[in-house]
Amino acid sequence: MSIDPTTTAGGAAAAPLCGFGNHFASEAVPGALPSGRNSPQHVPFGLYAEQLSGTAFTAPRAENRRSWLYRLRPTASHPPFQPYGKATLLCAGPFDEVPPTPNRLRWDPLPLPASPTDFVDGLVTYGGNGDPATAAGIAIHLYAATASMQDRVLCNADGELLIVPQQGRLRLVTELGILTVDPQQIALIPRGLHLRVEVPDGAARGYVCENYGALFRLPELGPIGANGLANPRDFLAPAAWFEDVERPTELVQKFAGRLWHTTLDHSPLDVVAWHGNLAPLTYDLRRFNTINTVSYDHPDPSIFTVLTSPSDTPGTANCDFVIFPPRWMVAEETFRPPWFHRNVMSEFMGLVHGAYDAKEGGFAPGGASLHSCMAGHGPDRASYEKAVAADLAPHKITDTMAFMFESRWIIRPTRFAIETPLAQLDYDTCWSGFRKAEVPPCR
Ligand SMILES: [Fe+2]
Repeated sequence: MSIDPTTTAGGAAAAPLCGFGNHFASEAVPGALPSGRNSPQHVPFGLYAEQLSGTAFTAPRAENRRSWLYRLRPTASHPPFQPYGKATLLCAGPFDEVPPTPNRLRWDPLPLPASPTDFVDGLVTYGGNGDPATAAGIAIHLYAATASMQDRVLCNADGELLIVPQQGRLRLVTELGILTVDPQQIALIPRGLHLRVEVPDGAARGYVCENYGALFRLPELGPIGANGLANPRDFLAPAAWFEDVERPTELVQKFAGRLWHTTLDHSPLDVVAWHGNLAPLTYDLRRFNTINTVSYDHPDPSIFTVLTSPSDTPGTANCDFVIFPPRWMVAEETFRPPWFHRNVMSEFMGLVHGAYDAKEGGFAPGGASLHSCMAGHGPDRASYEKAVAADLAPHKITDTMAFMFESRWIIRPTRFAIETPLAQLDYDTCWSGFRKAEVPPCR
């Protein structure tokens, strides 16, 4: 029995599968998925069985993620990798190009490149912490792409990729199927999964958190109960889809912080069927069930956590992905915007859409800011004055979608982040000019 590529490969993908961390099973060709065992002596159609592990074999069952892939050719069939020759602005741990700074940093949006640039070459690292070699920390990249990847695929051995588009759709053609992700949606790509990133709108820009640490998962809900925040069923995985393409395809592999490449004589996006709980996912941030105060004060922003990558210290994340979505503000006798604070965690923020309620200006969609451990920050003066003068009627914040990558480890900027003309040298001035409080002399 053989697979007829004229009727199967390259066709329309079936409807996506839903659920975070579910065990999925999908086949692009009826009968391709073995039943009853993972690695039969004879796989249907002569496909090759291959396990892709996202956690150690022995990780606890609740954390264990892996999928079984049934493909036209084994991934192992490839020539040696060579260092990727092209200069890029992609960096990795230990992030020691320049000394980490206690200063608050903010950047204008990353411009789209003038010449055709795809997702891989359009990645620019702003900072990070840890090291892929020690499986802890994150790297924070922005991307600006004006071309689809053509006859080449990316495989990141260093970590999973949390992609936050800000402008333009991405079509993610992965080994396990095809996902499309728009601004105000996110994609989560498992470590090691081959993918081709296409830009159907001709240009795309956004943010990437490359997670070297424990896999992102939904946060515990505690007293919130069984439902709320990001609901598992709103995460979508692709149905199986494959292409049977026999022409030279460049495989770019990120390994231990550096890019390598080799050329295959075929596309590695040739998985005909798969099953398991390690899969690329998308999630629409507008589905987030936002929980906030209905009395006074507002909860810590951890109430807006979409996904968390825990560290080995309970409650102290390697990385939290937190959003600031549209929401009702009803708190009584309360300063409603984010308060002034100094945080032991370091906070990298981006803005996908609209405006952020703690900044009246300067933080544009596509821009970014970094407030590291113990950097004093909060509303700018204009936002502060507006909030203390506000009528505290119920008010809905609309047209906004800001987010934060928050890490227990100091986020160390790259040389690019410090030296780029996109850095706003006057950022500190948004907290200048606050009137001193007037109090009687100390007794
Ligand atoms: Fe903050």
